[in-house]
Amino acid sequence: MKKLSVAILGATGFVGQRFVQILENHPWFNIDILAASNKSCGKTYEEALNGRWNIDTPIPENLRSKIVLDSVSDAEKIAQSCDFVFSAINMSKSETKELEYKYAKLECPVISNNSAHRETPHVPIIIPEINANHTDIIPIQKKKLGTKFGFIAVKPNCSIQCFLPALHALKDFLINSVVVCTYQAISGAGKTFNSFPEIIDNIIPFIENEEQKTETEPLKIWGNVSPGGIVLANRPKISAHCSRVPVSDGHMASVFANFKTKIELEDVIRRWQNFNPLRLPSSPKKIITFFEDQDRPQTKLERNIYNGMSISVGRLRKCSIFDIKFVCVSHNTIRGAAGGSVLLAELLYTSGYLTKNNF
Ligand SMILES: NC(=O)c1ccc[n+]([C@@H]2O[C@H](COP(=O)([O-])OP(=O)(O)OC[C@H]3O[C@@H](n4cnc5c(N)ncnc54)[C@H](OP(=O)(O)O)[C@@H]3O)[C@@H](O)[C@H]2O)c1
Repeated sequence: MKKLSVAILGATGFVGQRFVQILENHPWFNIDILAASNKSCGKTYEEALNGRWNIDTPIPENLRSKIVLDSVSDAEKIAQSCDFVFSAINMSKSETKELEYKYAKLECPVISNNSAHRETPHVPIIIPEINANHTDIIPIQKKKLGTKFGFIAVKPNCSIQCFLPALHALKDFLINSVVVCTYQAISGAGKTFNSFPEIIDNIIPFIENEEQKTETEPLKIWGNVSPGGIVLANRPKISAHCSRVPVSDGHMASVFANFKTKIELEDVIRRWQNFNPLRLPSSPKKIITFFEDQDRPQTKLERNIYNGMSISVGRLRKCSIFDIKFVCVSHNTIRGAAGGSVLLAELLYTSGYLTKNNF
């Protein structure tokens, strides 16, 4: 089988490096183009990284000396030379929005990590195990864009992927209200302990725009496809508090939830254990790994379970104010970013959206 040709926009960044690692031996996708800013353009990938490689496996040999393109000024060339792009650039929201539209209109599908289009009604936010049916908005989006093949699909904010699957498994009990407090790693801000020394021995109880994303993106994921765009679900009510903590990788969330119907702890565990993964190359063996030990899940111990694609859940107990409370952990640059995007691309590929001859 001929692999699809892929470009990574933002290939030198935290998320871009994860794409490079995850796609190294991918059965369906092959990285042909690495792109970043005009600072990196024209350099080899290794030169452009300039010591920033932050992954525990080496830079793939075949990409070390690949010349990096400019995601912006080389857009036409990139769009013509690949089947689709993964977008992980760090530009302003308006610049990102415009650039992703540009690629889509150049008939190049965009699978994005950026938040720029998450509120665009015709752009789906997809966690493949939860709302694969939202790919149904793509033909409507293409009509709006005037494209045959190009479209934009995005994955949600990194912290949402650590707790939403655990709540989704309980949806039949009619979730009424949720409070979520997140403890987010510094790689989520594109930082290391060297570049973010103020986080050492510290917690910062503010992450710009994060609480708003945490409260609204789940409602789009649980919403319905309509000709006018995705209509947001009106329940549950979600209140979020997000903090940056001194952890390199991995986001944790404490979740408190109320349900309309009675729920027992045994029901919860059964639902989590029976939440089956999809059968895609990047699917973890289990979506939710449940821990009974009272001091688990821990970020450092659990973030890499099933290649960083599983969500670890534990500390499940009854709550004196809400019905239940529990703790979730997932890897923010894998399940929460590059891995989640690759899984979405696999879903789009099996649904025919990435194969030009279907159009
Ligand atoms: N880190 C996470 O856990 C995470 C999770 C989910 C989503 N995200 C989102 O993913 C995106 C990337 O995050 P990151 O943490 O990987 O950021 P990062 O480490 O700062 O990397 C940013 C990338 O964007 C490129 N870039 C910066 N300015 C540019 C410009 N003007 N034109 C073209 N390219 C430009 C950089 O290229 P140069 O090296 O050439 O400057 C680099 O490749 C962000 O939108 C972020 O919000 C991040």
